[in-house]
Amino acid sequence: MMVLKGKKILIGISGSIAAYKIPIIVRLLMKEGAEVQIIMTPAARDFVTPLTLSTLSKRPVLTEPFNPVDGTWNSHVDMGNWADLMLIAPASATTLGKMAAGIADNLLVTTYLAAVCPVFFAPAMDLDMFQHPSTQRNISTLLSYGNQMIAPREGELASGLCGAGRLEEPEVILEVIRDFFKGNQSWAGKKVLITAGPTVEPIDPVRYISNYSSGKMGYALAEEALKRGAEVTLVSGPVQINAPSGVNLIKVQTARQMLQACDTVFDDSNLLIMTAAVADFRVSDVSGSKIKKQAGIDTPALKLVENPDIVKTLSSHRKTGQYIMGFALETDNEVANAQSKLSSKGMDAIALNSLNDPGAGYGTDTNKVTLIHKSGVSYTSALESKSVIAGRVLDFIEETIVNP
Ligand code: C5P
Repeated sequence: MMVLKGKKILIGISGSIAAYKIPIIVRLLMKEGAEVQIIMTPAARDFVTPLTLSTLSKRPVLTEPFNPVDGTWNSHVDMGNWADLMLIAPASATTLGKMAAGIADNLLVTTYLAAVCPVFFAPAMDLDMFQHPSTQRNISTLLSYGNQMIAPREGELASGLCGAGRLEEPEVILEVIRDFFKGNQSWAGKKVLITAGPTVEPIDPVRYISNYSSGKMGYALAEEALKRGAEVTLVSGPVQINAPSGVNLIKVQTARQMLQACDTVFDDSNLLIMTAAVADFRVSDVSGSKIKKQAGIDTPALKLVENPDIVKTLSSHRKTGQYIMGFALETDNEVANAQSKLSSKGMDAIALNSLNDPGAGYGTDTNKVTLIHKSGVSYTSALESKSVIAGRVLDFIEETIVNP
């Protein structure tokens, strides 16, 4: 889980309003056990204080090549050798230009030139500055040197303009760094079946029973599994989001269609992750025509019948070595309910969402999960973006899988 433990990260901060996000990145890195050394350009100090950063990183923050009072030398070569990874964030237009041209007139750029580790840079500036051919040429030059860009996001900028130029969010930057250290092909050769979204059970040709599932968690898991090199089949109920490219997408509507689609793929899969919010019931007699209001006739009652339990059906004919994870969204007695589902449905592990955690569960971009393995091993995450949670879930599977 702690891929960043003991990793040495050099962060170069240059002068951009987005520097206010760096203390958060430092905190996240420190929490994961990384060692962080910060270098700031003189301009960066106008945007975020060295005191904040040195307190969080537990190391003095460096700006000058030497201390003018006692002559202590801040060796850019030593720092460049020390680091496992250098992150330049925010990378201002000026700093990108100096890096590309080798203008070593501050400690950040000198250290960049001396760094023997991989370098990531995260530009942040106004839209016009980012689009300027000069900036774009500098970025191409840096990419051609093998440096990697954490591209800026589209969004509202400090200037009031809107467009590409916002520094990527701290959580995403952390994820890029984690991925780098993980070596992202750890699932190469694995076949992963993921279900996502709601199922939709028709009442008549224009109406249906369904639920609020957005599919975001399942899609984030599919993306993460792809990133790690897996071959991914995503069986999805109707959702408003796009499937990650490279996934084998099978679209379904009803629980029975989902079961049928899964059945054709499951035997050949190493892992099944059931995030879908499968409707427990369907309407027994679907009306062939639209049900109408009719004066003098009683309100129609819907007769429901139980849907098959997909994960239970699949786990009943699993082969040795197949790993099955389910999800449970609970409102009370959360852990006990999740544990009983884990055993009654024949799963290896279950991810529990609680509706009592604000920001977790349906529809949101964030989630908080407790992961429980049948052996008793468990892990509870913080409230994090669904893409970060996807990484945690896959890490947990890697840790608890018996037959990798
Ligand atoms: O709805 P419930 O809380 O029982 O869901 C627990 C797990 O069982 C989930 O992983 C869900 O995808 C799965 N499930 C299923 N078939 C159903 C209902 C739920 O596979 N009919």
